[in-house]
Amino acid sequence: MSKYFKFKTPESLSQEAEKLGLDVRVTDDLSGLLAPITIGGRTVGNRMVIQPMEGCDCTSDGTPDELTYRRYQRFGAGGAKLIWGEAAAVVPEGRANTRQLVIDAQHVGGLTKLQTECRAAHRQAWNDDSDLLIGIQLTHSGRYSVPAPIIAQHDPVLDPRTIVDKTSKRTADDSTPLISDDQLDRLQDTYVSAASVAKQAGFDFIDLKQCHKYLLNELLAGKTRPGKYGGSYENRTRFIREVVAKIRDQVPGLLIGTRMNIFDGVPYNRGPDEGAGIPCTYNLPMLSTWGTREDAPEVADLSEPIRLVGDLAELGVSIFNLTLGNPYGNPHLLRPFEYAPPDAYQTPEHPLIGVDRHFRLTADVQSAHPGLAIVGSGYSWLQAWMFHAGAANIRDGRVSLVGVGRGALSHPDFGGYVAEGKSLDPKRTCRTFSDCTALMRAKNNALGQFATGCPPFDKAVYGPIYDEAMASK
Ligand SMILES: Cc1cc2nc3c(=O)[nH]c(=O)nc-3n(C[C@H](O)[C@H](O)[C@H](O)COP(=O)(O)O)c2cc1C
Repeated sequence: MSKYFKFKTPESLSQEAEKLGLDVRVTDDLSGLLAPITIGGRTVGNRMVIQPMEGCDCTSDGTPDELTYRRYQRFGAGGAKLIWGEAAAVVPEGRANTRQLVIDAQHVGGLTKLQTECRAAHRQAWNDDSDLLIGIQLTHSGRYSVPAPIIAQHDPVLDPRTIVDKTSKRTADDSTPLISDDQLDRLQDTYVSAASVAKQAGFDFIDLKQCHKYLLNELLAGKTRPGKYGGSYENRTRFIREVVAKIRDQVPGLLIGTRMNIFDGVPYNRGPDEGAGIPCTYNLPMLSTWGTREDAPEVADLSEPIRLVGDLAELGVSIFNLTLGNPYGNPHLLRPFEYAPPDAYQTPEHPLIGVDRHFRLTADVQSAHPGLAIVGSGYSWLQAWMFHAGAANIRDGRVSLVGVGRGALSHPDFGGYVAEGKSLDPKRTCRTFSDCTALMRAKNNALGQFATGCPPFDKAVYGPIYDEAMASK
């Protein structure tokens, strides 16, 4: 029985929001979701986006495998016209798990097949794929890389949570070396090569991932990092600005997007009150967060994110996907949940507050840049009413496209349902049980990682994997 989600109609949802002092709007007119939008000169057939979600289901060398292809066939056939492919590491040592995609010259074949099968499934289901955009997210996991963390700046809160030696469980401290400026200079060229691989594989766009406290997000927050990549806004944004300019010049014809945090916030811990999350202790000013007030880090400060969106748009970035938080440190910011993931705390707030935070902060960026294509996040907790909220946000100019994450694992064909005016299938609508995250965090098998998907609603495939993962603990 859900503690928070009890809404039989979209109106009851917005009434609850009002009671909580929030601004979550809904409409029964979903037609705005079906309006095409032009992005970088390309027409995208509707406003529904499948968010990037790692399946942790590749082979050990980072090649897509059977379940990877299956996911993208289902996404392609689903009806959303923008498929934002998942995190693919630009170098093997920058992977966040042992079964993450790798995007380099050796992987062109697998990536081409992935893109082609996704597009073919769309064409088969919808006849026309000329208005479908498929991208791939270029990542370096930085502090969260396996087997060893690669740190961009010392973080007084995250360093003690970052294990640098698995045997002794020693954590990072001020003596742990940072990735050097020279290494970052070379990494810029690696990103350019990866972008070129994405183009060869037939992707329409690449996403330069700057979110969830992975490497490029940590660089944005690197206020205490010395040298040319740290300190001032110009230095902290140097990497992304230079990479965008290089890709624009060296890989012409490829659209450039970025998924970026607009608010990092503070990490949380399990608290004494039935495990509800509480903010960790921290010293002020907090100089290791982006989009966050240094003197009150539980509050967003959008001045730099808004500035960066403008700067990147001028350099040629044509689509922005906005998100919040850190999946390991404060998952309630990133994905408002009803049921806690196994490595986290119980939600410290009504999940609708988390949804409202996504909507409000995204609306602030969109209103500062009304002409830009901006994808919003954090919709899945709204279950059957996520598109009623998304359509209201589009109507009111609070966002340009609506991104669905967890809800796409359980119900990848939501786009077709909306296009055909049908209600979502209640038997497959994500209830934020967090089983997908539980699988992502399950590592105890020969590959060092279990594949993830939706065990309750895609049961034939993920039920047995879930059982095995839970038994392996
Ligand atoms: C299983 C899983 C894998 C994810 N992988 C990625 C990823 O590769 N890249 C990324 O930017 N976000 C990733 N996310 C975050 C989602 O894209 C999304 O932002 C988040 O789930 C909140 O949206 P939702 O409420 O619609 O689920 C992942 C989330 C889940 C649950």
